[in-house]
Amino acid sequence: MTFTHRHLLGIEHLRAEEIVTILDLAEEYVTLNRAAEKHGEALAGLTQINMFFENSTRTQASFELAGKRLGADVMNMAMQASSITKGETLIDTAMTLNAMHPDLLVVRHPHSGAVDLLAQKVNCAVLNAGDGRHEHPTQALLDALTIRRAKGRLHRLNVAICGDIAHSRVARSNIILLGKMENRIRLIGPPTLMPAGIAEFGCEVYDDMEQGLQDVDVVMMLRLQRERMDGGFIPSEREYYHRYGLDAEKLAHAKPDAIVMHPGPMNRGVEIDGTLADDINRSVIQDQVEMGVAVRMASMDLLARNQRALRGAA
Ligand code: NCD
Repeated sequence: MTFTHRHLLGIEHLRAEEIVTILDLAEEYVTLNRAAEKHGEALAGLTQINMFFENSTRTQASFELAGKRLGADVMNMAMQASSITKGETLIDTAMTLNAMHPDLLVVRHPHSGAVDLLAQKVNCAVLNAGDGRHEHPTQALLDALTIRRAKGRLHRLNVAICGDIAHSRVARSNIILLGKMENRIRLIGPPTLMPAGIAEFGCEVYDDMEQGLQDVDVVMMLRLQRERMDGGFIPSEREYYHRYGLDAEKLAHAKPDAIVMHPGPMNRGVEIDGTLADDINRSVIQDQVEMGVAVRMASMDLLARNQRALRGAA
């Protein structure tokens, strides 16, 4: 097997063949998830704890369903209601949970690097479900699976990532993954929403949608992440939609078979036209949600296998 990690903390730690290993296994889980009988045994007897220190709808639901479909005992910690609000540190909470012997810990946290830190303190496998603006590895993997299924390959594609790149862990993980798979990446958005040090990513940067979208195969839209902004990054949502919102007219500059993606949650009429988002001939947004469950099943399955191998060797 070509996936030997203890944790899934970021795409930056994965080699191209490890990414392919996860996607290939996820394909098998897509088939399982479409069957009437959806139960697998890969995580039977294992305990999975989901710790979400930031709000989440689809990612948390997706991890929960993935664990349950593979037979794990899944617990969702309500972090807002937890001892964190009483002043307990992240590490104390993690150590307390660690003492209950979980096998898989799924963590989302508003601070970049918090999940890596936690992984150093616990004995179980840790999966990063998004840390600040750093990484969101399972999102990039589910996006990759969606692209591979729609386009028949995951290399030599022109991919545009558009909007609030600066605040987006989704963009960062996707840039790393798509780069490792040898695609050409264009970042499109206002200069105020481009991260510092953008040059080192090796992407082409545009502040004009029509130019940037020219002949691309994939258009990935991002939400304006207001919760991570502390001031005037954009003049107004109206003006933003006019210049950077994806509608049929702007999409006409991309290849005729270009697909439209969005990680959700979407702001219709801010970064994307609602009708286009629902157009099943162009939009693969619902496929992304479906692939999310399969990718999380594959990721947890592979980490559990490695855990068993480590225990066997000890
Ligand atoms: C993203 C996230 O939380 O980083 N959402 C998700 O996981 N589906 C993107 C976002 O919040 O805009």
